[in-house]
Amino acid sequence: MYKYRNFTSILVVLILSIVSLTLAVQVHEDSGSNSNSGSSQPTPFVEAYLSQRSKLVSTENALKVGSKVVFTPKENQANEIFSNILLSEELKYSNQDPSSFNFLQMPKGSGLHIHQDSSASYDYLIDIGSYLPNAYIYLNDSSSLNGTFYFFNSTPSDNSGWYLLSSIRENSHNVKELDAQLLKTLTLIDQDFGDYVDLWRKFDGIFARINGLVSYVPIALGYMNHLFNQMIDDNVQHIELRKCFGDFYDINGNSFNDTWFVQEVETLTAKVRIERDMPQFNVKLIGCDGRHNDQSVVLDHMRYALQLVNQFPKTYVGYDLVGPEDEGYPLIHFIDQFATIEQESKSMPLPLQYYFHAGETLLYNNTNLYDAILLKSKRIGHGIQLAQHPELESIIIQNQIGIEVCPISNQLLEYVADMRAHPALILFNRGVPITISPDDPAIFNVIGLSYDFYEVTYAWGLDLKQLKQLALNSINVSSFYDENEKLLSLKYFLLSWDNFIDYIIKNYNNSSSSNN
Ligand SMILES: *[C@@H]1O[C@H](CO)[C@@H](O)[C@H](O)[C@H]1NC(C)=O
Ligand SMILES: *[C@@H]1O[C@H](CO)[C@@H](O)[C@H](O)[C@H]1NC(C)=O
Ligand SMILES: *[C@@H]1O[C@H](CO)[C@@H](O)[C@H](O)[C@H]1NC(C)=O
Ligand SMILES: *[C@@H]1O[C@H](CO)[C@@H](O)[C@H](O)[C@H]1NC(C)=O
Ligand SMILES: *[C@@H]1O[C@H](CO)[C@@H](O)[C@H](O)[C@H]1NC(C)=O
Ligand SMILES: *[C@@H]1O[C@H](CO)[C@@H](O)[C@H](O)[C@H]1NC(C)=O
Ligand SMILES: *[C@@H]1O[C@H](CO)[C@@H](O)[C@H](O)[C@H]1NC(C)=O
Ligand SMILES: [Zn+2]
Repeated sequence: MYKYRNFTSILVVLILSIVSLTLAVQVHEDSGSNSNSGSSQPTPFVEAYLSQRSKLVSTENALKVGSKVVFTPKENQANEIFSNILLSEELKYSNQDPSSFNFLQMPKGSGLHIHQDSSASYDYLIDIGSYLPNAYIYLNDSSSLNGTFYFFNSTPSDNSGWYLLSSIRENSHNVKELDAQLLKTLTLIDQDFGDYVDLWRKFDGIFARINGLVSYVPIALGYMNHLFNQMIDDNVQHIELRKCFGDFYDINGNSFNDTWFVQEVETLTAKVRIERDMPQFNVKLIGCDGRHNDQSVVLDHMRYALQLVNQFPKTYVGYDLVGPEDEGYPLIHFIDQFATIEQESKSMPLPLQYYFHAGETLLYNNTNLYDAILLKSKRIGHGIQLAQHPELESIIIQNQIGIEVCPISNQLLEYVADMRAHPALILFNRGVPITISPDDPAIFNVIGLSYDFYEVTYAWGLDLKQLKQLALNSINVSSFYDENEKLLSLKYFLLSWDNFIDYIIKNYNNSSSSNN
């Protein structure tokens, strides 16, 4: 566990070292010598200095995350190979594609922060979804609805902006390019964005435009099936999806509520477990609302979530408020509604557990982290500001509240400019249970968790001990139904980790593979 006293003494040693080094350099310069400090004959000063230095490095390393992960000789061997790859990739980073190491192979444990409607890649929505009969798109450059997809059984008469996609495709001389263009309008790539307020507007616009696809019954479950398989292919064995309240629809005007969706997800999960031979594969759902919603809507949906938690305790795990924190209401705005739910929970077997997005902001006056902690949030989404709050940080370490860090999201939405300076690395080394998630992979044009793991591995210089710790953290803070489910998950993770270690040793040690 991290102790401030240790940190202070390290800081003192460090400052003293710098001071004495500065003095030594001055003395050196005063004597008129112009030889540099890379001395070939170590002076007593350099000897003492270097020994002090290596002591400092090892004290620091012992405090670092991953230092408590005990490795077998085989794991150490794989780690050495892995670190060599990392080093050599880093050296050629400037002009080569640094992707010789296959991150897809690494078991990543649980993906805990994923929004259901931006989870699996959108090629599914365009290539399959938008080819279903009765798919329409709204085209009107001067309307905010422009580019919105929806299914109608006949062309809406009250609005001439809706066009059948099948007709548009018939009249197009290059359907492939048209589809590629449609897909591009659903991702935050290759565009000039402006500041993060502007970005959020574009980001929210995508959710609005694809809603008519992901909530259309003939697509909804196929999209989930696509997601489950993409995650399994990416070696993710457990996912928790934020699903905001909102009905699904079919072509005959019927609507299907979240109760229906939870049941369908349970059925589909059972099917995928068998198809992929993965009894440990879990899918959990977290209900959510936009944080700009009215208090009465939030209360209604929290009540609904409380009901679903008690009706489907294996799958439905809690509630969250989402959307740009700087624009929507702060958590404290809903304090009366939280109080009501607290009261109503008492008559139910299970209470409503929260999973708040908090601290995803650059504004100093954001207070959501305080409320997320006081409301006993099981985990916290993003927590970018946490390093600024020592007391909150120690509560989080003490209670092992998982922090769902979404590196690519943070960078693309302009909360963190340079991944190497991401505050989560500081938290990670101080013992905060950091986990890695993709947030909205479809919109960021990535699949699964590999891209986010890849980014932090290179930016933070992680080794296999630290990567294993990230995966173990994710399992440790997952929302399991019971201890058996947790043990099963951990058991399979450790088995696949062993296979991964074998895979590295077999495939990435040049000298041994050349023998085969
Ligand atoms: C594999 O060989 C390349 C080229 O000789 C070398 O740069 C690299 O460090 C080697 N990798 C390992 C893991 O030994
Ligand atoms: C296009 O959108 C504008 C602004 O919403 C609206 O006034 C206009 O009627 C729309 N045009 C068509 C053809 O629907
Ligand atoms: C309107 O939507 C279409 C299809 O998504 C897109 O190609 C076009 O660029 C959009 N127009 C504007 C002004 O954004
Ligand atoms: C959800 O839909 C089912 C089936 O139509 C219905 O019985 C149930 O009352 C609905 N629940 C809510 C909370 O709307
Ligand atoms: C923080 O300050 C901004 C700008 O003054 C303001 O709009 C916002 O409401 C404040 N947020 C909170 C949580 O007080
Ligand atoms: C999991 O969390 C518990 C406390 O909740 C902690 O004692 C344990 O060390 C954690 N395990 C791992 C692998 O991080
Ligand atoms: C790589 O393989 C060679 C030959 O089998 C072996 O001598 C060497 O120790 C291996 N290196 C590592 C880091 O495992
Ligand atoms: Zn999110």
